[in-house]
Amino acid sequence: VVVIIDNASFDKRPIGVFDSGLGGLTALRQIYKALPCEQVVYFGDTGRVPYGTRSDETVIKYVNQDIRFISSFDIKLLLLACNTATSIALDRLKDSFGFPVIGVVENASTAAVNATKTGSVLVLGTSATIRSKSYIKRLNALNPAIEIYEQACPLLVPLVENGRYKVDDEIVRLILKEYLDPFKGKDIDTVILGCTHYPLLSEAVQRTVGDCVTLIDSGKEAVSSIHGMITPNEYADRRDDRFYVSDSVHNFEALAETLLGETIYGSVEKVDIDLY
Ligand code: DGL
Repeated sequence: VVVIIDNASFDKRPIGVFDSGLGGLTALRQIYKALPCEQVVYFGDTGRVPYGTRSDETVIKYVNQDIRFISSFDIKLLLLACNTATSIALDRLKDSFGFPVIGVVENASTAAVNATKTGSVLVLGTSATIRSKSYIKRLNALNPAIEIYEQACPLLVPLVENGRYKVDDEIVRLILKEYLDPFKGKDIDTVILGCTHYPLLSEAVQRTVGDCVTLIDSGKEAVSSIHGMITPNEYADRRDDRFYVSDSVHNFEALAETLLGETIYGSVEKVDIDLY
């Protein structure tokens, strides 16, 4: 039997992944799992993170620069892994990039609407994400009958970045209780983890809300839609993945493995994002 592999049917261009910082590595983790043959270029704006506490104007300005930088690579698709960037800037981005741009709100909303049986959904996110009402708009468009509750959780990003996300951590338990207790008795059976950092807290959130509640990982849901949007690559060497950050490379390495869940083999370089 002769197997002829037609190279022309593969697309070797990398997928671009953008986040306000390193949180997007939780989405990259999903790419590595679901699309192991895809090469990746990641940009984390570590010099200007967090976005979730900033004004819309600032987030839009930053995201425009970030996308100008990442579109200097020949990518086949860009994933905006950041919920804050997606919520505030995705609709305003021009369609003129020559590659599809996907965010993390749409697919997570679809997954939530499909998951809920009680019709009550809770969205957790940064202050900017919640202020934008991005999830309310999307969930309502999918099903106007859905009861939507939202909670901004500004303490969770710094908590995770300080290594505090484990299920038996007393501080984590107390902070989650503070954020989630107001929704007791609301018949919520689905919680959207609407922020890059929250998948690390999923065990702790699950313990707080109970086993009957479905947690939706926004990065995972977005990644599951990429498959149908691209011509796949044949093979990826993780050493060829490229990581760019806007603050020191040293700071990147300290946190990156926690968020990615594995060692980073690709190159890591600092970029001056103000030039874009
Ligand atoms: N990446 C952001 C998000 O998913 C969290 C960190 C930040 O505030 O920039 O909303």
